[in-house]
Amino acid sequence: MESIKVFAPATVANVGCGYDVLGFALQGYGDELILTRRKDEKLVITSIEGVSGLPMDPTRNVSTVAISALLDDLGLRKGFDLRIKKNISSGSGLGSSASSAAAAVFAANQLLGTPKTKQELISYAMAGEKMASTKAHADNVTPSILGGFTVVRSCQPLDVFNIPYPSELKVVVIFPQVEVKTSDAKRMLKSEVKLSDAVRQWGNVAGLVSGLILEDYDRIGKSLEDVIVEPVRSILIPFFQEMKKMALKNGALGYSISGSGPSMFCFLRGNENTQEIVWNAKKYYHSHDIEVIAFVSDINPSGAIILD
Ligand code: HSE
Repeated sequence: MESIKVFAPATVANVGCGYDVLGFALQGYGDELILTRRKDEKLVITSIEGVSGLPMDPTRNVSTVAISALLDDLGLRKGFDLRIKKNISSGSGLGSSASSAAAAVFAANQLLGTPKTKQELISYAMAGEKMASTKAHADNVTPSILGGFTVVRSCQPLDVFNIPYPSELKVVVIFPQVEVKTSDAKRMLKSEVKLSDAVRQWGNVAGLVSGLILEDYDRIGKSLEDVIVEPVRSILIPFFQEMKKMALKNGALGYSISGSGPSMFCFLRGNENTQEIVWNAKKYYHSHDIEVIAFVSDINPSGAIILD
C-alpha cells in the first residue's frame, strides 16, 4: 500500500467531572488525512485544508510529531507526505489537535503493516498533544483512536479502557466561535484542590461511570457536575450560564464544558429535545453577534477508521 486515507473523530474530554480522565468520540466532525509513502525519510505536510494558521513545519505540527514518536520507537526511518483536511478549528475544545495526532499515527501504523495495536498508538498520539498543549493528556486522543466512551485511569504508565454507554444517549455540542487555548485553560487551574471538592468530584466520577454502565439516565444527569474546573474556566465562555440554564430547561440531563472550551456539551435521552437546544443556542448567540456551531451527535463507537 502506497497511500491511505483515514478519519479520526473530534472528541469531548473531561465530560464534566472527569478532568483529564473521561472522554468520548463524536460523529461527523474530525480530521481526514491522506498519508503517502515517500522515497526519502522526510515527513512533509503538503496541505492543510479547512483551517488556517496551523504549522507546516514537521517539528511543530502534532501529526508529524506523533508519527515521529511512532517511527522512533519502532527504530524505523521512513518518509511520508501528509494531506490534512480539518473541520474543527484549534482552540475549540473538541480535541482538534488530538484528531490530527490520532489520524496520523493510525494511518502511519497501517502503512507500516500494523506493528502496533490501536491501544498502543495512544502514547504516540500523546506526544503530539504534549507539543500542542504543553502537557501530555490522553482524554482526547484515547476516544479519537478507540472510539466510544473512554477512561484514562493513568497516563504514567498508560492505562486506558472503554466503558459501555446507553444506546439512546444523545449529545448536543454548542461551540461559540471564540478561541480558548488549551495551554492557557490549563494554566488557569490551581494545582491543588480542597478535599471537600475532591470528595464531591470523585463521587460524581463514580456516579457518571456507574450511570453510563447501568443505563441510569437520572444518575448520569446528577453526576454531570464539575465543582473544580467548570467554575474557573466557564468565565472564558460567553453566556455559559445562560446556555446551561437553557439546555437544562429543555430536557438536558446535564451540561458542562467540552475539554478546555469554549465548546460545551449536554447529554439527552433520545432525540426529542435536541433540535430545540440547537435552535435556542443559535438564536441566543446570533442575537449577541457571536457566531456559533451547534449540532447533535451520537457517541461514535469506531474511533479512527480507514476511508480508502
Ligand atoms: N483534559 C484537557 C483539559 C482536555 O481540560 O485541559 C483539553 O481538551
